[in-house]
Amino acid sequence: MAKVLVTGGAGYIGSHTLVDLIDHGHAVVSIDNYLNSDPSVYQSVEKITNSKIDYEDVDLKSMPDLKRVFEEHTFDAVIHFAALKSVGDSVENPLSYYENNIAGMVNLLKCLVEYGVENFIFSSSCSVYGNADELPVVESTPIGSAESPYARTKQIGEQIIADVSVAHPDIRFCVLRYFNPAGAHPSILIGESARNKANNLVPVITETAIGKRAALHVFGDNYDTRDGTCIRDYIHVMDLAHAHTLAVEYLIREKPQSIATFNLGSGTGSTVLEVIKTFEQVADQKLNFKMVDRRPGDVEAVYADYSLAKELLGWSPQLDLKDIMRTAWAWEQHRSK
Ligand SMILES: NC(=O)c1ccc[n+]([C@@H]2O[C@H](COP(=O)([O-])OP(=O)(O)OC[C@H]3O[C@@H](n4cnc5c(N)ncnc54)[C@H](O)[C@@H]3O)[C@@H](O)[C@H]2O)c1
Repeated sequence: MAKVLVTGGAGYIGSHTLVDLIDHGHAVVSIDNYLNSDPSVYQSVEKITNSKIDYEDVDLKSMPDLKRVFEEHTFDAVIHFAALKSVGDSVENPLSYYENNIAGMVNLLKCLVEYGVENFIFSSSCSVYGNADELPVVESTPIGSAESPYARTKQIGEQIIADVSVAHPDIRFCVLRYFNPAGAHPSILIGESARNKANNLVPVITETAIGKRAALHVFGDNYDTRDGTCIRDYIHVMDLAHAHTLAVEYLIREKPQSIATFNLGSGTGSTVLEVIKTFEQVADQKLNFKMVDRRPGDVEAVYADYSLAKELLGWSPQLDLKDIMRTAWAWEQHRSK
């Protein structure tokens, strides 16, 4: 059993990961400042796991608060989710993104060094690849040009890890590059419930279907893809959550000497229209959508080769796009009651 500090544990991926860690016998402490979440999510996690969650209201930007957590506990590993994540918002407020995502991470890493925590897992993103020349992308695909300040914070985060790993070889690092997380826990007690406006395709689809939005805008239908719309790789949040548990176990067991970087995607690219069609089948209803101009900064197509995660972590996705749409839709109906 490992004792794991989860930053951003009240958030979307963090809350599902708390469940998976507990389900696999690990102890968790979660910290969050509820910038994009609500502490009530912990009650749902407690209900699902039937165990008490140790959590604190801590902002990573506050070093004294952070140090207090490290003084109170001895951690085997830290999983670092806490970050601001809206691409559009980051273009308008780049300084908040650098302050929150970079300064917060630096504080956290200082604590790892000071308190001798040996394992660190970082939430990165396929956005680090930019517009890749070859698909599917593998971990050695060159890092592309960042399309937004948000994407740049992920690239900088990875660079910080590269530097810190040289200066502190006693700390083991795992970088997880997520593709497009979506869906909800099958209990429908937790799901994606950001305080800030959703801008990922799946929640926008379910919000349109339930009537929170008048219509879904499909940005661009003249890309060089099979139906002209952008291609992305959708991965169920529970599959993603489980990869974190496996990453903790891998770092502790294997003690890798170099940074372990993994793509976490389904390996399948779906167009926007295919995702809409899957939703329509699963929900048995038509979605009101319309084609609009391309959105600046959108990558045409990206999907993952996850063979490295399969080989080293023993991870492979168990759920597909239908499972994603089914749980996302059930979650939307539940939270809109
Ligand atoms: N959801 C995606 O599509 C996606 C894709 C790729 C990478 N990621 C990355 O995965 C991580 C988790 O994403 P998510 O979708 O769960 O986001 P989320 O917004 O639901 O969760 C992030 C959590 O971190 C908290 N937080 C933010 N800044 C904080 C701070 N300074 N101190 C303490 N808590 C803070 C927020 O309140 C929130 O609960 C993020 O780093 C994100 O960039 C997400």
